[in-house]
Amino acid sequence: MEKNPVVITEINEMKKISRKLKKEGKSIGFVPTMGYLHEGHKSLIRCSIKENDITVISIFVNPKQFSPNEDLDKYPRDFERDLEICRKEKVDYVFYPTFEEMYPENFQTYVIVEELTKNLCGAYRKGHFKGVTTVVMKLFNIVNPDNAYFGKKDYQQYKVIQRMVKDLNMDVNVVGCPLIREKDGLALSSRNKYLSEEERKSALSLSKSLFYAKELFKNGERNVENLKKEMSEMILNYPEVKEIQYIEIVNPETLKPKETAEEGDIIALAVYVGNTRLIDNIQL
Ligand code: PAF
Repeated sequence: MEKNPVVITEINEMKKISRKLKKEGKSIGFVPTMGYLHEGHKSLIRCSIKENDITVISIFVNPKQFSPNEDLDKYPRDFERDLEICRKEKVDYVFYPTFEEMYPENFQTYVIVEELTKNLCGAYRKGHFKGVTTVVMKLFNIVNPDNAYFGKKDYQQYKVIQRMVKDLNMDVNVVGCPLIREKDGLALSSRNKYLSEEERKSALSLSKSLFYAKELFKNGERNVENLKKEMSEMILNYPEVKEIQYIEIVNPETLKPKETAEEGDIIALAVYVGNTRLIDNIQL
């Protein structure tokens, strides 16, 4: 059976509802998104529905986390399609604010997580995590969730949010959910929509190189430089790969780069396939 979610566009209304739900003793699960929902989002929604009385999802393409040269304008949007998915997944509330509602005139307060945002994507997307933490902090204040669900495809984002919540003593449990892949290994992302047929084939270079590195690690290779070299050689063999932005093997908690790989470390990478920047990661 489907369920029509209640769509809320105003912050005050959302706050009123979450206060009422809390008063009634209901637990709130929250899935923040930028829309264009896919199986990865659905898995977060399903986790939330299983573990909470009420599930709220937000759909807001947050301009503050895009730098001027990035894809804000062409970021895929389809609210009706997203709403249909929410209906099928039995989401209770969809918070869908406008830019003006979230960032009224004279907005000037930001949240910064310092160390964890310095490398990986943070080194290349200046200001990105400042935009993410600021909007997530605002969304947490508005929705007041007990549990909030983040995909581990954006592993750095997940760790940054976890840090913010701990450092600022926020009463939210941050849940990291497994990365979801297509059958052939491609990590799900709203940005996959940008890929042409040929680029889609080359996009497999990310997951294939990660699986290969994990295999080499299993067979005893521990030298990070060697693992990275094997990965880049493999990736650069794919015709539509334009640039490897980074390949890093990092400690899963500090996200600091390693010289010698250990079990539990994260291999993360960002690669341009055509003009599309894709990220992926795997845990050793
Ligand atoms: O992962 C995303 O979609 C976004 O970064 C988030 C967490 C919704 C904040 O805008």
